Amino acid sequence: MISQSSIDLVFETARVEEVIGDFVNLKKSGSNFKGLSPFSDERSPSFMVSPVKQIWKDFSSGKGGNVVAFLMEHEHFTYPEAIKYLAKKYNIEIEETEQSNEQKDQANERESLYLVSEFASSYFQKILHKTDQGRSIGLSYFKERGFTEETIKKFDLGYSLNEWQAFTDEALKQGYNIDYLEKTGLTIVKEDKRFDRFKGRVMFPIKSMSGRVLGFGGRILINDKKAAKYVNSPESDIYHKSNVLYGIFHAKQSIAKEDNCYLVEGYTDVIQFHQTGIKNVVSSSGTALTSEQIRLINRLTKNITVLFDGDAAGLRASLRGIDLILEQGMNVKVCTFPEGEDPDSFAKQNTLEELSIYLENNAKDFIQFKASVLYEESKNDPIKKAETVREIVNSIAKIPDRIKKEIYIQECARIMDISEEVLFSTLAQINKKEFQEENKQFKSEQKAFEVIRHQQPVEKVNVQYILEKKIIEVLLLYGNKTERFEDLVLKENEQGNLVLEPVVNEAKVFEKVFLDLQEDEMEFTNANFKTLYYTIIDKLNQNPDFELKNFINSVDAEMGNEISHILMEDERYTLDNWQRMNIYPKEKMHSVAQLVSETILSLRCFLIDQKVKEFQQETLHKKIDTNRNILEEVKDYSGLKMLLSRKLNRVL
Ligand code: CTP
Ligand code: MN
Repeated sequence: MISQSSIDLVFETARVEEVIGDFVNLKKSGSNFKGLSPFSDERSPSFMVSPVKQIWKDFSSGKGGNVVAFLMEHEHFTYPEAIKYLAKKYNIEIEETEQSNEQKDQANERESLYLVSEFASSYFQKILHKTDQGRSIGLSYFKERGFTEETIKKFDLGYSLNEWQAFTDEALKQGYNIDYLEKTGLTIVKEDKRFDRFKGRVMFPIKSMSGRVLGFGGRILINDKKAAKYVNSPESDIYHKSNVLYGIFHAKQSIAKEDNCYLVEGYTDVIQFHQTGIKNVVSSSGTALTSEQIRLINRLTKNITVLFDGDAAGLRASLRGIDLILEQGMNVKVCTFPEGEDPDSFAKQNTLEELSIYLENNAKDFIQFKASVLYEESKNDPIKKAETVREIVNSIAKIPDRIKKEIYIQECARIMDISEEVLFSTLAQINKKEFQEENKQFKSEQKAFEVIRHQQPVEKVNVQYILEKKIIEVLLLYGNKTERFEDLVLKENEQGNLVLEPVVNEAKVFEKVFLDLQEDEMEFTNANFKTLYYTIIDKLNQNPDFELKNFINSVDAEMGNEISHILMEDERYTLDNWQRMNIYPKEKMHSVAQLVSETILSLRCFLIDQKVKEFQQETLHKKIDTNRNILEEVKDYSGLKMLLSRKLNRVL
């Protein structure tokens, strides 16, 4: 168990914008930061981080919370994993209270898989550098490939002894559980026998965006036609091949900085590029790129350059996969290498300057490139040409931006020597088909919406919801502040008439809210708000040093999400680029006291309106003789409403 004082220190130190900034490319927007949602495919930012409130909110998925909630959502960490991650980032030493064996067993399974993988990684490194076999076989192989000592260390490369269960034995001796060794695939269990999966291979640890070891790739060193050149970790609770990009941990900062990402095929391509000095490079590890992998890149940059090996064979097939990248609105370039070369061999033979110049001169716009490849293939074959036209227009159709689409149509017409009209009408056909499908979906969504609309009068619910939410917001942000509140009180003047006179009282915001609402016996209708309201009032009452940040960190994840929703909802409009259009949303408030009074009075007025409406309904349904009473009540409420309205007007 991590001690409470360590947890407190972590929370005090961690800055939500710094932590999230390691995963999402954040841009300053007013007092907040905004960026592309890491939880969905999107092209315009709906993800916000508030350095002041120390919370984040993702408007596209509805998720939100504090810094720990982000790590739990994004990295799928458990709570202790998230705390430990932050402690590491900020160089905080974690104090652990002693764990019993039983507690150790109960420790989260995923964490155990991570621990086994970290252990394996350091074991394989130790074998590489510290044993004779490791040095003479593994290390000399890497050196032969041209990797320097520094590079080998940077990528934590390792070696697995050419023995059946050397690793497994050592791991068991160190107390690691065979279940976890099997679940991570490091050990293969067959009946009562155990084998090291990576026997006699050099090891490439595969890391998450945040640098945790998720799995391994192991390369064989002998020429054996029967054995696979690479063996990779199987899918596990921590390793999902389709969500991982090799090298992303070492590349992320540089991708964001250079605003471009090179995509290569293999582990060694990534490493060789790094050594040469190009760091914004990742690999999909020999498989077709998935949309999750593209999303990882899309968070860091809009620009991707796909690098192809010098053999033409794989090229055609790979070109199709690239449509997926276009769909996410990214700009794609492609670059091929001379016959017989791949990024690894090319980088090895060239200096940084030569490599950079080559990439700059040879990276071509993907659509133009594809059009010219297809043209070369089909220029003398009319039937084939018709096919290729469809193929290129299919790619263009994936581009979300209309202007770009049109420009590409014009360029492809030129490259493929075909009229623009033909291309445009092919595009129209494809669009029409897609439109019909989307339309079908849209219509069914509309129907679902109509059902909801007929069920409940939306507006009535919303006003109360908004006002209740506003009260919680006021309490969270300013509950502890002492303010001067002006109230109108009925007083007898010199002529003996009752008049409203302003009286100023100093009070804490939460006391004012609590007393005013109590006066009306007002209850929250939203269950979450109600719980929050009493929790906050209670905290404020007990603790004069109430701080929002500490409060959010003390509630559970669901409540934390609710709080960030409440606090960030208003920020949403700043996402719409209003500033750029020179329209500034109105200043949030002029004074806290005014905001508090306005909110409470609005809610009271609203509740009175509701009461009056109820009475009116009753009058319709009841016999005449009870009407008198009701009319009296309505009159009383109307008087009160008038009084409140006058107060409200004064506030506004
Ligand atoms: N790969 C794999 N399994 C294989 C072959 C390849 O997982 N049997 C993946 C690896 O991630 C590899 C990538 O596909 O890095 C590219 O394959 P390849 O070009 O054959 O390997 P290189 O990385 O170029 O390795 P090397 O240069 O050592 O031959
Ligand atoms: Mn290679």
